[in-house]
Amino acid sequence: MSPVSAGFFVHTFGCQMNMHDSDRIRETLVDAGFTESKNEDEAAIIIFNTCSVREKAEQKLRSEIGKLAPRKLRDPDLVLCVAGCVAQQEGEALLKQIPHCDIIVGPDNILELPMLVTDHRAGGPRAARAVFDVDAPRFLQARFGDTSAEKAPVSAFVTTMKGCDERCSFCIVPHTRGPERYRPTSEILEEIGGYVNAGAREIVLLGQTVDSFRDPALPETGSEDPDETQFPLLLRAIAEAHPKLARLRYTSPHPRHTTPSLVRAHAELDVLAKHVHLPVQSGSDRVLKRMIRRYTSAEYVRRAKALQAARPGLTMSTDIIVGFPGETREDFDATLALVREVNFVSLFAFKYSERPYTPSLKLKDDVTEVEKSERLAELFALSGELTQAHLKTLLGTTQTILVEGRSKNAGRSDANGNPIVRAGVLVQGRTERNEIVHVEVPTNLAVDRELLEVRVTKAYRHSLFGEATERGLRALPMRDPNVPMATNEKRSRRLPIAPVV
Ligand code: 5AD
Repeated sequence: MSPVSAGFFVHTFGCQMNMHDSDRIRETLVDAGFTESKNEDEAAIIIFNTCSVREKAEQKLRSEIGKLAPRKLRDPDLVLCVAGCVAQQEGEALLKQIPHCDIIVGPDNILELPMLVTDHRAGGPRAARAVFDVDAPRFLQARFGDTSAEKAPVSAFVTTMKGCDERCSFCIVPHTRGPERYRPTSEILEEIGGYVNAGAREIVLLGQTVDSFRDPALPETGSEDPDETQFPLLLRAIAEAHPKLARLRYTSPHPRHTTPSLVRAHAELDVLAKHVHLPVQSGSDRVLKRMIRRYTSAEYVRRAKALQAARPGLTMSTDIIVGFPGETREDFDATLALVREVNFVSLFAFKYSERPYTPSLKLKDDVTEVEKSERLAELFALSGELTQAHLKTLLGTTQTILVEGRSKNAGRSDANGNPIVRAGVLVQGRTERNEIVHVEVPTNLAVDRELLEVRVTKAYRHSLFGEATERGLRALPMRDPNVPMATNEKRSRRLPIAPVV
């Protein structure tokens, strides 16, 4: 049983932060001499990087790891680890709850995972490490940079802060991710530089409340407004330090920090994408108050409209919880009205579920499952309408897309079932907002990671089809026929424009 040859497999549940953490888990294990297995069946070490934000996600972990109990019985050397938010939430207790689980590791203890695994494989006891790095916060840097021959993804996530100091009554995140800790600006700029040098064209800043950013190295804001932060200054610092960056996004902000200076940054920085995901949770002031969101629906709308006015064509998406304790039909109608008023082009909506350690546990979960399902369906129907209406407004317009690689639609058949024959190659890219556009380009041109001007000719349910403009094609370099085109599947799974249940 050589530790060096042992293969591992990582399952990832949940948000972008978890996907990002999973990449760091892989790098940490590879650095320690482990190898990544192609599938779970071949792996000697299986890691579940978990989510606990909603009950469903936690149930998913329990059912997935439960399926491995027979295999663990047959093969006691198999090492099963739980990482991420459920690991942090339950800590050592999880070892009791899941008797065939060997190792528990919290989000701030990823670096300890190789040691925990090695000790366990050498006969050590089952172990749990779930301790926040409050005194000396660490942000694991992705392995891309000047010396790396490996290409970075076209769009890369960079963590700027972790933890959450908000106390939204429904939310378990302060418990699973701890208090807010900010990464020094210099480190953020350095990591972005590494990605840009390795071929990334878009950066997505990542944090639980990404816009609460503070860093003593940046100028004081000088504002009396307690909601003002140094986040707009961070955006400016990135734009200045990395002029080659094509696009900059961030997720997820808290609406109370959408202050005039952040709005100004959107007006002035071309690199900022024309899309903001701004979770609203509810359109009813009564519910917002009980959720402890610290804004009214009118304040949210004012801020959203200020963003839209600052950058013509800017679109917005959001998160919504339906069936929060005490939510009446009128409250829900207020949410529908707000969704229409802001005109979200997509939204994520969830049925309220009780989470441990959250303040809203004190409130009665009194909206029935049937009502929650009906409200969710109504919301998705409205959202689908708004998405369609929005995509139609783009017909005939000229857009600049960032090409991600071959279109996954390549090789599909047309409406009559006949295979589509193409002279060129079908690629897909994203507009400045985030709509997916499929477009055919001549095979002799290099389009990967390039910006390409297209005219939108068709609107599908969740994506667009376009034609490259003459000017767009002229701006493209010639392709080296020896370099295969990217498919960039990974990128395409992220930041979907379509609602996800
Ligand atoms: N129940 C349902 N949805 C929740 N979310 C967070 N906590 C809960 C909960 N207890 C949703 C919010 C948040 C998203 C990540 O998950 O909409 O923005």
